[in-house]
Amino acid sequence: MAHVDPPKVTIPASSKFGGETLELYLSSEQIQQKVKEIAGRISEHYRDKCPIMIGVLNGSFVFMADLVRALDIEFEVDFIKLSSYGSETASTGTVRLLKDISADITGRDVIVVEDIVDTGLTIKFLRNRLQEASPTSVTFVSLLLKDEIAKLDFPLDYVGFNIPNRFVVGYGLDVDQKFRGLTAIYAFKEN
Ligand code: PRP
Repeated sequence: MAHVDPPKVTIPASSKFGGETLELYLSSEQIQQKVKEIAGRISEHYRDKCPIMIGVLNGSFVFMADLVRALDIEFEVDFIKLSSYGSETASTGTVRLLKDISADITGRDVIVVEDIVDTGLTIKFLRNRLQEASPTSVTFVSLLLKDEIAKLDFPLDYVGFNIPNRFVVGYGLDVDQKFRGLTAIYAFKEN
């Protein structure tokens, strides 16, 4: 049976933001189509190379899992865990390294995989940190980009969707650590 994303999701009263209604923003079909498209471009670009895909935990794990399974090149995976938000819906303005990568990326092609670039703080921190290890190349993939507010002084190499400054949830993105398993992406209702 075909998967159908519910048009609305209500956060249970017992949770933080309880009673808030989230509206469908990107369907699982739209997301999967975009994942295939990005994977095709990466496979083309990295043909005969073996990049290390670095997922930024926690949010990127769903996108990362779908993306790597759609690649048709050899690759390795690793993860880094950073935090730029507290448990609220706004950036705290600081990035903390909670878990470093294990791989030696010196002389390697690195592809950083993000679920969302919001203010751009996390990805800027990552870029500086990874470049200290002298990789051959570092490129950035993000499923979502808040292009109006991200303060980046370098372009992202692969972007799924440019989105406005709305709080989005699902497909790895959380509200207070929950809802990461939704197969579509939902947005808080605009007031
Ligand atoms: C989110 C997201 C990005 C970052 C983007 O992670 O996964 O890593 O915020 O925000 P920025 O561009 O403003 O830095 P978060 O710190 O919320 O942790 P999580 O992935 O565990 O949810």
